[in-house]
Amino acid sequence: MTQRIRIYQQGTPDVLHHETFELAPPSREQVLIRHEAIGVNFVDTMFRDGTFKVPLPFGMGVEAAGIVEAIGDGVEHLKVGDRVAYFFAFGAYADRRVIDASALIKLPADISSEQAAGLLSKGLTAWALVKQVHGVQAGETIVVHGASGGVGSLLVRWAKSLGASVIATVGSASKAAIVQGWGLDHVLRSDEPELAERINATNGGFGVDVVYDLVGRNTLAASISALRDGGALIHVGNASGGVTADTSLLAARGIRYVQPSTPQYVNAGNQDMAASELFERFREGALGSLELSRYRLEDAALAHRAIAARKHTGSILLMP
Ligand SMILES: NC(=O)c1ccc[n+]([C@@H]2O[C@H](COP(=O)([O-])OP(=O)(O)OC[C@H]3O[C@@H](n4cnc5c(N)ncnc54)[C@H](OP(=O)(O)O)[C@@H]3O)[C@@H](O)[C@H]2O)c1
Repeated sequence: MTQRIRIYQQGTPDVLHHETFELAPPSREQVLIRHEAIGVNFVDTMFRDGTFKVPLPFGMGVEAAGIVEAIGDGVEHLKVGDRVAYFFAFGAYADRRVIDASALIKLPADISSEQAAGLLSKGLTAWALVKQVHGVQAGETIVVHGASGGVGSLLVRWAKSLGASVIATVGSASKAAIVQGWGLDHVLRSDEPELAERINATNGGFGVDVVYDLVGRNTLAASISALRDGGALIHVGNASGGVTADTSLLAARGIRYVQPSTPQYVNAGNQDMAASELFERFREGALGSLELSRYRLEDAALAHRAIAARKHTGSILLMP
């Protein structure tokens, strides 16, 4: 029997339902994989809690890595035993699953399944943010709100490695102490008053070139105040709650406003190239060491509670 976590209604972490079922063999152009590690992402909590409506019952999770156990007709590029990963396909909270072969990225031998499940979705988001949504240039000043989390911790170090001056914000003293060890230019507390003024004080009041806002409600006003006219506001997420930007004000100041979604920038056509660049930067050490917190698959609710409690840094895994 196969194990999985589904929801039958949206709500608190208690709605995460662990169950067993009989897995059907893969159809044409599909593959059956046994998961070795499952990535937990903030977006999972939004599919669970009703921020995004989903058809019910709903198979939780978007990201995992594991071993190919069976292949359907028409799959040419994979064979049984290959190690693979994917970054956005619903139904990842399971010990085995069937998935379209086109979603899979073949893993290099030196990237473990745990590393892939901890890196891929967050790292491909960081890749899209520094390479596609805005091409980060040496000498630019950028702000990242939510720097301690899975995406933020990769994004700040990637931008720094490209030569940008990086101002990171975090929501507590304990996270500030961690992020201060990453060699960034400034680490500021987003939970203290006058955030925009403190950002401006770091660069002579000229305004920053780019803000990546992963936090939303608690930081967006400061993001807009801290930007220079003609800068870019990349509104990546709403970890603290949804908020709407005043687009007429942004337009009046010539600020480019984007609300990107990773699958708009990473798709079947470029995912192998993007993943190989991500793994190369990781090997070089440009993205720092990967901090992983592990929970059992059946304890997915604990992982979701940890995200809500804002206690973790780095990436969270579920282990089948
Ligand atoms: N647009 C896209 O395609 C895309 C893709 C991936 C992720 N995202 C978004 O990027 C953000 C980060 O994702 P992630 O996977 O890196 O998540 P994560 O590891 O849980 O990080 C979230 C960060 O947000 C901060 N935060 C502020 N207020 C929070 C709150 N009320 N609850 C929880 N966290 C809060 C936390 O840092 P402090 O405690 O230090 O404030 C935490 O480090 C999320 O908003 C997510 O939706 C968007």
